[in-house]
Amino acid sequence: MIKIITIIGARPQIIKAAAISRAVRTSFSDRIKEVIVHTGQHYDHNMSAVFFDELKIPKEDYNLNVGSASHAVQTAEIMRLLEPVLEEEKPQGVLVYGDTNSTLAAALTAAKMHIPVIHVEAGMRSFNKTMPEEINRICCDHVSTMLFSPTSTGTENLCREGFSENARAPYSINNPLVVHCGDVMYDNSIYFAAEAGQKSTILSDLNLTSGEFTLCTIHRESNTDDAQNLNSIFRALLHIAENNKQKIVIPMHPRTSKILPQQLQPELAERLERNYDIQIIEPVSFMDMIVLESECNLIITDSGGVQKESYFFKKPCVILRDETEWVELVEQGTAVIGGTDTESIIDAFNKLKSKNLNFPPLFGDGHAAEFICEQIYSALN
Ligand code: UD1
Ligand code: UDP
Repeated sequence: MIKIITIIGARPQIIKAAAISRAVRTSFSDRIKEVIVHTGQHYDHNMSAVFFDELKIPKEDYNLNVGSASHAVQTAEIMRLLEPVLEEEKPQGVLVYGDTNSTLAAALTAAKMHIPVIHVEAGMRSFNKTMPEEINRICCDHVSTMLFSPTSTGTENLCREGFSENARAPYSINNPLVVHCGDVMYDNSIYFAAEAGQKSTILSDLNLTSGEFTLCTIHRESNTDDAQNLNSIFRALLHIAENNKQKIVIPMHPRTSKILPQQLQPELAERLERNYDIQIIEPVSFMDMIVLESECNLIITDSGGVQKESYFFKKPCVILRDETEWVELVEQGTAVIGGTDTESIIDAFNKLKSKNLNFPPLFGDGHAAEFICEQIYSALN
């Protein structure tokens, strides 16, 4: 039996962790013991607790309760509080997801204690180091012992940075495993889609008709904290809603809800107030989210996870960023880089709304989590 510590902190990590926890519970319970540490980076009920119940994730064994703070303080606090937990638990590996401050802090802490870091969603790059996430991912990959990439683009990025896909066991920080494994988020979307369809009442709650609304999420630091970008995005959303009588549902991230009243120009705020086609709501549960994703006509987002889910649920996607890590979506033509310029967002929306699109499988077979568990067990056992 090996012991791994799984680190979660932000919403998408809690959701991703559901897939591996499920695989451990159903197929590896005699070989892998999972201890869960929640850093507390996200803490609102609808950003954290809601997912544990509905996705059947075991309650965390430790909560570091770090909460919100500047990048440096949040990262440092996680490191300071995690170190004694790792000392006490003595795991064979520390599993981290994605690219948040929780990911970086845990990877640095574990690597310096000579505990192998297992990075799920390794190798993703935007090639824009002004994004905090790009710094987090690069640093995390370079101290990892097992790098699981959801796409072949990810392994190619890693090879360009000096990693090799030919490493053989025993793996170490100096001889890391790099492997393309598919996406645990795809595992989850497949696994929960039918249940969500039965349980969620979000369409009737919001009085929505399938195929007649657009879903939008906005939370990227460069879009919320830059008033020009935020206003430009809302100008585009208002134009789309007003000119097409298009309903737009926005489950709003707390970061955006907090800053919007301060940043939005009065003229846009008034138009938003008058427009009943734009529905701003609280963040929703994962079951509600995947129903919104599967029943909408188009997705507009700056989220990494929601971009991918647009593909899983075969919906066109306008990306509210100047670049993406998920380049396959753009190459396939199902997603368009809308950036943050009002006109280019509107153009992207118009271009995609009536286009015939193909969604060949790109993100594995829905069993990435089992593959990852198998690899972890054989490497660390
Ligand atoms: C973080 C990640 C980002 C990820 C996102 C997922 C980093 C650097 N960023 O961004 O990569 O895409 O999570 O959602 O790690 N807040 C609340 N309640 C909460 C959580 C946050 O009100 O439960 C508010 C606070 O005002 C906080 C702000 O949101 O200051 C930002 O939260 P933070 O975790 O720092 O960054 P995110 O924007 O959520
Ligand atoms: N999500 C959710 N409720 C919401 C918005 C998003 O459950 O109101 C889910 C979404 O389906 C995806 C994940 O959260 O699985 C994406 O997280 P987020 O957009 O916060 O972060 P990112 O993926 O950009 O890091």
